[in-house]
Amino acid sequence: MALITWSNMLSTGIAEQDNQHKKLIELINKLNDAMQAGKGTEVLASVLSELVNYTVFHFGYEEKLMDQNKYTDTAAHKTEHRKFVETVGDFKKKFESGSAVISVEIMNFLRNWLTGHIMKTDKKMGQELAKAGVK
Ligand SMILES: [Fe+2]
Ligand SMILES: [Fe+2]
Repeated sequence: MALITWSNMLSTGIAEQDNQHKKLIELINKLNDAMQAGKGTEVLASVLSELVNYTVFHFGYEEKLMDQNKYTDTAAHKTEHRKFVETVGDFKKKFESGSAVISVEIMNFLRNWLTGHIMKTDKKMGQELAKAGVK
C-alpha cells in the first residue's frame, strides 16, 4: 500500500508545483515499497539517490519562483529546505557507509516532513504566488 496518497488537500494552487510534489510522493512510495519488499542495498541506494536528487531539483524550482516574484517569506522557506537537505544528506551518507538502514521510522519522517511542509509552507507560498499570477 502506498505510504502517501495525493489528494486535493495537498494542492498549492500552482500546477507545476503540484506535479513535482506528486513525483516526490511517488519516489517516497517507491522507496517504501522497496524497503517492504526487502530489496538489497543497491536498489535502495539507487532509489534514495533518485529521491535526494529530485528533492534538490524541486527546491531549486520553488526557490527560483520565490526569488523571481519577491515572495515575502522566502528566507524562512529556504531555511526549511536547507535543513531537510542536510538531514537527508547525512542519512544518505550513513546509509551508504552501512551505519544506517531504511526503516519504518525513516519512512515516517520523510512522509511527515513532506506532507507537513506542503500543507503549511508550500501552500502559503502557492496561494500568494497564484494571486500574483503564477500558474
Ligand atoms: Fe515543495
Ligand atoms: Fe518548499
